[in-house]
Amino acid sequence: MENSPKINLMGSEVAKGYACKPKKLDPNKPIMHYKTHIFVCNGDRCAKAFKGDKATELRDIIKDMELHRGKTRIKVTRSGCYGACRFRGVINIYENTASNGFLPNNNIWLKHTHQYSESKWRELFEILSTNTPVSDSSFDMIEEKVY
Ligand code: FES
Repeated sequence: MENSPKINLMGSEVAKGYACKPKKLDPNKPIMHYKTHIFVCNGDRCAKAFKGDKATELRDIIKDMELHRGKTRIKVTRSGCYGACRFRGVINIYENTASNGFLPNNNIWLKHTHQYSESKWRELFEILSTNTPVSDSSFDMIEEKVY
């Protein structure tokens, strides 16, 4: 209906002229559950490698896969430089273990993601949403070491 108020993903009426900003602020409203949180490096070198706004592009794919809400929700956030620029296209994946218990893909670092095609990103999101270990796939992980 044309005159129906626009409602955002969290069930709040949207302020006029905005995509999702609630019309009425409830400072105590809980944040939306997420299962997986992906931090996409937006530091100078990674951003240059991505050649554009990667976070928005990934959010669009996630929406298309219906993974933007519900128990398997994947949240994407831009991060600053991790000091791992040599790997370019660095992303860091965290799982919400506080709500979901042990999950195999918690604290995973991936490199060269600026080379991923859309289908590669879709493969990653499918793996994450089904809790299939990323380490069992063809994704290039970044090793951690104590120096
Ligand atoms: S710019 Fe991405 S790790 Fe430094």
